[in-house]
Amino acid sequence: MATKLAALVVLVAFLAGPAACEGVTICFNGWLRLPLLNTLLCRGSGIPRKPAPPPSGLGLVYGYYNYNSSTSRSYCPGAEGIVRGAVEKAVAANRGIGAGLIRLFFHDCFVRGCDASVLLTTTNSKNSDTEREGPPNKNSLRGFEVIEEAKAAIEAVCPNTVSCADIVAFAARDASYILSDRRINIAMPGGRYDGRESFATETDQLPGPFSNTAQLQESFTAKGLNSEAMIALSGAHTIGSARCMFFSSRFPEMDPAFAAKLKGQCNGNDNTNVDQDYMTPDVLDKQYYQNVIDNKVLFTSDAVLSSTETIKEVKENANMPEAWERKFERAMENMGKIEVKTIGNQQGAEIRKVCSRVNN
Ligand code: HEM
Repeated sequence: MATKLAALVVLVAFLAGPAACEGVTICFNGWLRLPLLNTLLCRGSGIPRKPAPPPSGLGLVYGYYNYNSSTSRSYCPGAEGIVRGAVEKAVAANRGIGAGLIRLFFHDCFVRGCDASVLLTTTNSKNSDTEREGPPNKNSLRGFEVIEEAKAAIEAVCPNTVSCADIVAFAARDASYILSDRRINIAMPGGRYDGRESFATETDQLPGPFSNTAQLQESFTAKGLNSEAMIALSGAHTIGSARCMFFSSRFPEMDPAFAAKLKGQCNGNDNTNVDQDYMTPDVLDKQYYQNVIDNKVLFTSDAVLSSTETIKEVKENANMPEAWERKFERAMENMGKIEVKTIGNQQGAEIRKVCSRVNN
């Protein structure tokens, strides 16, 4: 009995995210469905943490690899074009990969900053439980092969020059451009270095599908992104797919016809994937906000955006698509500035040769 209890405490401690856990109170960070327990234990989200300052992105430069100097170590004018080509090819074959690339960028930047730690399978610490094994990522993230393909093509022309972290950022920018039918054009600077560590446990900094508004705001403010950015970025749930395990408990709370359709698609299988946006599943557009208003979204974390605190912003995004597109561009650029390493080995960082493993 004591062993079982101890095991439970360890499991709870592992799953409890720092973003939603203060002092001795244990709260869940939203990847598990425990709404009652969470409400009882956490009362909102615990004591709010001090918001992080907006990410400065100091050291990042637009057109970083185009810098025309023979002494520049980062000169590789073809780099961004190679990434664009790889993304265009992948998205032409499967638009879902574009969604995967946008999400990959989010999951990279929220854990250890945008340093491609999300791609590692072999690290400096030689641990096998890297971010890829974390609950939000395992059997879920996609698009790795596009990054690897772009990296290999870039290494062939400019060895040891272009970071995997920059490739992830450029790929997210390009996927957004293509999936929005060229309406969303993110100004994405380069100059990030790649990290050498990656730990599955740290993925608890990512908000989960069962998060409430306070938890969502807390995890975004911890990264220096405000509520407007959080709401603008959630619009990415107008593309790609999600597994039934993350929303089947919400059927009774959804629009009845929408819930009935989803129930049929899931057919009792937690691992079935369904489109996130039932209207325009492959287009990065403002439809997500209409779906929030209509109660036709999948996750708790989507549905809570219709709360009094956030509904005004949701309605603005639904009614003024161009304004949302600019907000999305700005928020993606700022996300790309989170905790970046831009002075290489002084920060224990490097330009990886292969994106899935550290250099040695
Ligand atoms: C606000 C908090 C967020 C939560 C709780 C959340 C949670 C999730 C979950 C649970 C899935 C489905 C995963 C699966 O079934 O395996 C998903 C999919 C997705 N998310 Fe989020 N997400 C959030 C924010 C974001 C942001 C900021 C972006 C990007 C800017 C994003 C982009 C996506 C995309 C594109 C997909 C579909 C991926 C695919 O089809 O491969 N999400 N998200």
